[in-house]
Amino acid sequence: MEKLIQDLKIGDRVEGIFIIHQKKVNFKKDGSKFLRLELGDRTGQITGVVWDDIDLALEIIGDEYFIKASGMVDEYNGRRQIVISSLSRIDPKEVNIQDLFPKSPTDWEELKRRFQELRAMVDNHWLKSLLAAIFDDPEIYEPFTILPAAISKHHNYLYGLLDHTIEVTQLLLQASSVFPNLDRDLLLTGGLVHDIGKVAEYRIERGFEFTELGNLFGHVVIGHNMVRDAITKIEGFPTQITTKLLHMVLSHHGREEWGSPRKPAFPEAYLLHAMDNLSSKIHAIDED
Ligand SMILES: [Fe+2]
Ligand SMILES: [Fe+2]
Repeated sequence: MEKLIQDLKIGDRVEGIFIIHQKKVNFKKDGSKFLRLELGDRTGQITGVVWDDIDLALEIIGDEYFIKASGMVDEYNGRRQIVISSLSRIDPKEVNIQDLFPKSPTDWEELKRRFQELRAMVDNHWLKSLLAAIFDDPEIYEPFTILPAAISKHHNYLYGLLDHTIEVTQLLLQASSVFPNLDRDLLLTGGLVHDIGKVAEYRIERGFEFTELGNLFGHVVIGHNMVRDAITKIEGFPTQITTKLLHMVLSHHGREEWGSPRKPAFPEAYLLHAMDNLSSKIHAIDED
């Protein structure tokens, strides 16, 4: 069985698939070259060294993000490192990214179940069809359930976007019983779709990264466009709900300097911003 980085002990033989976080050619005391790799899996990082045949090793690695490496664990300056004896490329299709990056503490299937449960609470049939147009599309739903909610800061692990979306929507559900005059279905839908733009803002390659679209537009604008596009596919979708929901997506960051073109203009929009803020702040404090 393959061992995880956190469990490796000095003297262990290792064979496994790792992410290459960094590679660097260094020099030994006698002036000859060696290769130093920072390898990672979902439990952490470890240095790997290749003492001989550096050119061959560099050729094998090329521009790959993932590599199969085997070797022995030893100790250098009080830290574990892998002395690599062989490297080989792997077909990226064989790589299960879920083994290589940190995950949400809650099980993936459980998170998907909770998400669908919240989605099913929306009664308004227009909003129901909108949620179907967005979340029944596997090209949206799959990355939505896998991606982190942020590159750093909060929920920066696999399924983090799903985890954060559930938290925000659950908080809105609670708030709707405290404020019964507010539109509960609008609140729930706003919670479920508010960060949908992150599906196109982030990608997972060598780590959690911004896409070009993410860098140039950001998820507030991407999310607004995605919701608007989904609405245009539904014939007769009421203008009033369209305007309100799009405003909620656009204003969920609360302030211009936090990336929203407008501040929340009605109570449902304000609550979405407040609950979004609460969910991210609580996790940011947790990680400090
Ligand atoms: Fe956001
Ligand atoms: Fe959010």
